[in-house]
Amino acid sequence: MTEKRKDKIRLGLFYWPGGNHVAGWRHPRAEDDGTFNFRTVANIARTAERGLFDLFFLADIVGLRPEQIEAQSMAARSSYLEPLTLLSALAAVTDRIGLVATATTTYNEPYHLARKFASIDLISNGRAGWNLVTSHNQAEAANFSVQSHMAHADRYARAREFAEVVKGLWNSWDDDALLRDKVSGRYFDPEKVHFLNHEGELFKVRGPLNVSRSPQGHPVIVQAGSSGPGRDLAAETAEVVFTAAENYEQGRAFYADTKARLPRFGRAESHMAIMPGLYPVIGGTEAEARAKLAELQEMVNPATGLFLLQHLLGRDLSMYPLDEPLPGLPAHDGAQGRTEVILRTAREKNLTLRQLYQEVAVARGHNMICGTPEQVADEMEKWFIGGAADGFNLLPPCFPWGLDDFVDQVVPVLQRRGLYRTEYEGETLRENLGLPYPEVPHRQSAKSA
Ligand SMILES: Cc1cc2nc3c(=O)[nH]c(=O)nc-3n(C[C@H](O)[C@H](O)[C@H](O)COP(=O)(O)O)c2cc1C
Repeated sequence: MTEKRKDKIRLGLFYWPGGNHVAGWRHPRAEDDGTFNFRTVANIARTAERGLFDLFFLADIVGLRPEQIEAQSMAARSSYLEPLTLLSALAAVTDRIGLVATATTTYNEPYHLARKFASIDLISNGRAGWNLVTSHNQAEAANFSVQSHMAHADRYARAREFAEVVKGLWNSWDDDALLRDKVSGRYFDPEKVHFLNHEGELFKVRGPLNVSRSPQGHPVIVQAGSSGPGRDLAAETAEVVFTAAENYEQGRAFYADTKARLPRFGRAESHMAIMPGLYPVIGGTEAEARAKLAELQEMVNPATGLFLLQHLLGRDLSMYPLDEPLPGLPAHDGAQGRTEVILRTAREKNLTLRQLYQEVAVARGHNMICGTPEQVADEMEKWFIGGAADGFNLLPPCFPWGLDDFVDQVVPVLQRRGLYRTEYEGETLRENLGLPYPEVPHRQSAKSA
């Protein structure tokens, strides 16, 4: 696919307080109060908006293991503002950037999530997105009164029906259901409001949702699973797919495989934007960029590095010697796709456990590029033109400088090459991503039900 693409690179910002590098918050020029100081987060969201980014993304993990508290205490990842609450505040201090939050289908109810995201979509004038996850972190179970974490296959079965119910609820109100007719005294047209009456394996939800349609119809659905079930769920429901691919070949393989699943669900390639993670460390020269990364690596506390690797692999590794290659690990029920990427890297590079956590402490299995603005733009152009990405979810190592460097130095290069927008195309997240407007499927009205 080398012919010139008619569309432009989409960009998301993956925001973790302090930065995406596990020691990022320790950098002398890094913010370290984004876990509680709204102004800090608002400034970063506005910088991403100044860079004309499509979306601002918030991850979420609702569980912590007791044996991890020591290692966690070295990272700025254990207390942070609840994503949906934070997004509704950010909606008031931004105008065009999309606002995407993660919420799990394993430890939530569809009606509540549909309502919260639909409300943020109205508050933000059509800029909301939901990153649907199934919670690969088994520690989360301990906070929701269940004996054990659901198995991988069961988590995805629940996620599939959950997404169906949420979309059904988001389609409760026709676009023109609200009348607000002060003369007749009718606020909405009951013919244009629909009961869902969903009766499935896991959920029984009558509806309608008590929030009406937004300017973009309904929030954009994002997904980030990379296993077989993950890719199928993405092909069936997701309009944006985040993924972790360490190199171009992995990126191309994931892109081709996932897009090839769309026709099975009657969907076109343009109905989904695949945005792998990109971890840029930018310098005036490549050596300068590498020096910046080395400075951060110095700050990694071994226990925190090992913790992060254990979190991504979903298992305890403390019994393995640090300076020997990782032995073959038994199968498990956590994150399948990411585990595969990380263990393949360990094998291909014959890394010891220490070298592996030092590698993962940086980019968590995402593609990392250390270099000049031109070199970063070259890498992005290669993936975009070469069928490995429709855009990127950016993971700056530190905030604010990691993002400032990208917006001030890489964005102008991409614009000069005609690969990136010079102004927002629309008002809503969906318009800017170039995604189709979701029509309300015709159904029996509430009144005639
Ligand atoms: C960019 C990105 C962001 C993610 N964010 C979260 C998150 O915030 N919370 C979470 O529980 N899982 C998150 N995940 C994990 C995925 O939702 C999923 O569980 C993981 O990719 C494993 O899926 P698989 O078992 O289908 O491969 C993220 C994955 C990626 C690639």
